[in-house]
Amino acid sequence: MIVVASANGGVGIREAMRVLKSGGSAIDAVEAGIRLVESNPDDDSVGYGGLPNILGEVELDASIMDGKTLAAGCVGAIKGYGHPISVARKVMERLPHVLLVGAGANRFAAEMGFAPRELLTDYARDVWLKRLEHDMPADVRQNLAEQNDLWKWVELATDPERAGGTVNFIAQDGQGNICTGVSTSGWAWKYPGRLGDSPIIGAGNYAHNRYGAAACTGMGEMAIRSGTARSVVLYMKMGKSIEEAGRLAMDDLDELGGKYLSRMNIIALDKDGRPAAFSNYQEAKFTYMTGEMQEPVLAPRQFVATHSRWG
Ligand code: GLY
Repeated sequence: MIVVASANGGVGIREAMRVLKSGGSAIDAVEAGIRLVESNPDDDSVGYGGLPNILGEVELDASIMDGKTLAAGCVGAIKGYGHPISVARKVMERLPHVLLVGAGANRFAAEMGFAPRELLTDYARDVWLKRLEHDMPADVRQNLAEQNDLWKWVELATDPERAGGTVNFIAQDGQGNICTGVSTSGWAWKYPGRLGDSPIIGAGNYAHNRYGAAACTGMGEMAIRSGTARSVVLYMKMGKSIEEAGRLAMDDLDELGGKYLSRMNIIALDKDGRPAAFSNYQEAKFTYMTGEMQEPVLAPRQFVATHSRWG
């Protein structure tokens, strides 16, 4: 058994492994690990404490995929619920659908008995207000929700350093079943309703017991356009090693044109329980823990250069 996560998953990886060791499934482990990251107020890219959209609203995205059945559940732009990964799991288990967004996702969370919670912390509100003060004249700032050209201000307020964050977890349990989960507050200062790759199966998340799994952090628009998580798994299905599969998927990202290209990171697991991770950022790390290990390790990701551009 093994749990693999993005570096910020360190706060949940021991709990995920504890769940596996006590007989829980890969799905249970992924949910348990991600919930601890979602509750971590120090992580401003996931769950409670996540940085808000341009209107100051925290909108969360999450997905979970069961590699045994290829069932999946996802929520996008959900507001006021601190554990979108658990809502996504309920979508997978209770509905004939895969993805709920916005008001529908909020409504479903309430129906499933999740407790609403204020997600915007004082710190996040402060950073948001400072950013608006830096970029916008007072008359625009004070009536931001009424602006009919909000799109222009999103472009100004968007910061490539903030187009990232997100947590990824992949677990393989004692039966060999694989599950992948992703949770995020998305880009800080995004346009309301924007979804990244995290709730999009095939883009930010993909798992298949027979071949392996992958999940992404970084600039979700790139992973959506390239179908990154599914690509990694498909390359493994085609017989590539996990290292080759990850590098090929990163090379695919390098073919993207357009105005906005930034950081991208992938974690992956092959069907035999071997982890790997990739990034176009030199210092990037990931974490993993096998059933034999007493503590998780924080390991460097394989660097794959891709071009970046902003504006
Ligand atoms: N990768 C997370 C996002 O772009 O929202």
